[in-house]
Amino acid sequence: MVEVNSRASTRFDPRWRERLAGDMKPAISAKNLQHYFGAGELRKQVLFDNTLDIYPGEIIIMTGPSGSGKTTLLTLIGTLRRVQEGQLWALDRPLHQCSNADILSLRRDIGFIFQAHNLFDSLTATQNVRMALELGDPKGTRVDQTKRCHQILEAVGLGHRIDHKPKQLSGGQKQRVAIARGLVHHPKLVLADEPTAALDEQSGRDVVELLKQRAKEEQTTIIIVTHDNRILDVADRIINLVDGNIRSDVLVQEAAIVSQMLAKCELFQHLTPRSLAEMADHLIPEPFPANKVVLREGDQGDKFYLIREGSVSVQRGGAEVAVLSDGDFFGELALIYGQPRNATVITREPSVLYSLNQEQFKVAMGQQSTFESEIRKSLFDRQ
Ligand SMILES: Nc1ncnc2c1ncn2[C@@H]1O[C@H](COP(=O)(O)OP(=O)(O)O)[C@@H](O)[C@H]1O
Ligand SMILES: [Mg+2]
Repeated sequence: MVEVNSRASTRFDPRWRERLAGDMKPAISAKNLQHYFGAGELRKQVLFDNTLDIYPGEIIIMTGPSGSGKTTLLTLIGTLRRVQEGQLWALDRPLHQCSNADILSLRRDIGFIFQAHNLFDSLTATQNVRMALELGDPKGTRVDQTKRCHQILEAVGLGHRIDHKPKQLSGGQKQRVAIARGLVHHPKLVLADEPTAALDEQSGRDVVELLKQRAKEEQTTIIIVTHDNRILDVADRIINLVDGNIRSDVLVQEAAIVSQMLAKCELFQHLTPRSLAEMADHLIPEPFPANKVVLREGDQGDKFYLIREGSVSVQRGGAEVAVLSDGDFFGELALIYGQPRNATVITREPSVLYSLNQEQFKVAMGQQSTFESEIRKSLFDRQ
């Protein structure tokens, strides 16, 4: 408990604890979401059974090959398409069964930044941005509104172009007007499709910083579809969509911490960083209250545990034989040898444990031997 400082940088994000405990409501929740284009023989499924929760204040980067369904998913969340099958909630509204009035009110809470920026050619940058304000947040005087438009244009680096019309602006500048328009009304949810594609490094950074600030200060939920790896570091979470299905969904910072913890386990020391990251991806976090029996002596073993935060007492025949804490692991022996648990493990304080099921554990250990045999082969080939 005294080590709080040295642990600070690797603390389990309290918001994630809230989520695990089910105390935080998602901003977006999809359940078994499917989507199809076309009809009859031409009907083609493009989203397959996607289930996903996104929380307030999260910045999500969604990647994936072209045609994998990213834009379709984004437009479903943004109510630009109707939900066909499955369930989808956005900001507490069930999009699979809501009225047009609900949809209109929801759109006011959304900031859209889409690839085709759809600026009005006859309007200046300020007037284009004000359109969103009039629809999304129509309070305040005109002078007030103009001021807000100028502020946001300045924030995206266009303070010197406020009275320019689209044709007097470069591609990147137009894109930034579209970004300003997507953010001016302080939406609760921002949906951005390749927002930085047309921007140089510095403007891309500025936009990303602005998004980050919104997420931190206003709990804005932000989903960015992008191939731009220059902005990957802004993501709390990276979701990879392949062939219409979420292939992986990773809390980036947490995955790095867990991979480091796994790397310290002697058992996994021969795994490559990539295998460790894959394994981290399969670990399931679970909050435990104090004094809870995690596993019992004599039981059949089916999981391996890593202590993310907290501590446990290891007991044999009723006597404590060890205390384990952050970064320690247990439960591997029963999985390796197929024997019953040789001890009882009880939490000493509220703790967060990651577990890996037997199957994934075996996959990980299998990769280890593959890795070893690779080394053997490469050493052998040298001769
Ligand atoms: N309006 C549409 N009509 C028919 N097919 C479409 C339409 N929009 C997208 N698609 C198809 O749906 C799939 C997913 O597209 P999309 O969501 O745009 O992918 P991404 O944004 O990941 O590139 C693709 O195969 C695409 O051809
Ligand atoms: Mg797309």
